[in-house]
This record gives sequence, C-alpha cells and structure tokens, in this order.
Amino acid sequence: MNAKRVLVAYGSKAGATAGIAEEIGRTLRDDGFDAVVLPADTVTDVSGYDGVVLGGALYAGHWTGKARRCARRNAEQLRHRPLWLFSSGPVDSSAEQHDIPPVRGVARRMKNLGAREHMTFGGAVTAETSGSIARAMVRRGKGGDFRNPERIRAWAHHIGTELGATH
Ligand SMILES: Cc1cc2nc3c(=O)[nH]c(=O)nc-3n(C[C@H](O)[C@H](O)[C@H](O)COP(=O)(O)O)c2cc1C
Repeated sequence: MNAKRVLVAYGSKAGATAGIAEEIGRTLRDDGFDAVVLPADTVTDVSGYDGVVLGGALYAGHWTGKARRCARRNAEQLRHRPLWLFSSGPVDSSAEQHDIPPVRGVARRMKNLGAREHMTFGGAVTAETSGSIARAMVRRGKGGDFRNPERIRAWAHHIGTELGATH
C-alpha cells in the first residue's frame, strides 16, 4: 500500500513558522506519511496530495501575504481535500494556556475552504528576527521562542490519525 501524500505549506517572514511546518512534516513522516514541506509562495498545485496543512505567521492580526495568496490561488483544489490550518503568533505563553481562535481573516478562509481545524501555536521573535519592531521587542525583553515542539507534534499526530497513513 502506498503512503498518503501530505503537503505542509507555510507562509513565514522570519523563519518561526517554517520551523513549525518542518516539525509537522517530520512527525507525519515518522507516522508513515509521504510528507512534503514547502514555502507557501511556491505552491501552485495541490492536486497530488491526499491532505494539506497550511500555516501562516501572524502580523498585525493577519496571516502573511504568502499564506493568504497560497490559500486563494489553490482554493478550488483545497476545497476538495482534507485541510488543516495553523497560525504562528503569540510571543508569550498564551497559546499554551488556552485555545486561541483564528483571527477573522483566517476564520473566514477556514469556512470558505472547508478546513477541518485550526490551531494557534506560540511564535518566536528573536535577535535574528529582522525589522525595527522585532528589534525593539527583543531589546525590551518582549521577545522569545514560544514554539512548543510537543504541542506541535501532538497536533501532527492527530492529523495523521484523521488521515490514516495508507490508501
Ligand atoms: C511586527 C510584528 C507584528 C506581529 N503581530 C502579531 C499579531 O498580530 N498577532 C500575533 O499573534 N503575533 C504577532 N507577531 C508575532 C509573530 O507572529 C511571531 O513572531 C511569528 O512566529 C513570526 O513568524 P515568522 O518567523 O514565520 O515570520 C508579530 C511580530 C512582529 C515582529
């Protein structure tokens, strides 16, 4: 039996969301899937996948343009396959303490595309993050890496269970 193919696509500016996507991809591969991790701006065709996970970094209450455009560009095909969305955002422990619902635009997208679930993961702003706001956050001690690999892996296992590893 062939392993199911899963695409994990991410829209990331500074790399934190890419790291979450890689962790999801690794976990799905460990669970027996043929999982591919790609930057959202390179995704033009999802017809070859049995399931898709699409994530975006949050900036000023919106997914990055790369994730938004990926969702728009592939909308027709995304509607016809199992789809999960995630956001990487809060630079604090709030995502650990309670489920954070999707921002408005992502909630709308979820509905339009028939996504099964959405998850908000803690994000990261570190000394390596570019931009003046990020630099100011780090300088004031408001930065940090709040990605939790265990939570990310648990969600990926859950997706794997929902999809079923083989055809
Ligand atoms: C200028 C700026 C604006 C941000 N706005 C939000 C926001 O509105 N909501 C949120 O949850 N996180 C916000 N964040 C945190 C980022 O979403 C977080 O750092 C994310 O993990 C970045 O992902 P990336 O490294 O893949 O770009 C912001 C960070 C910066 C630097």
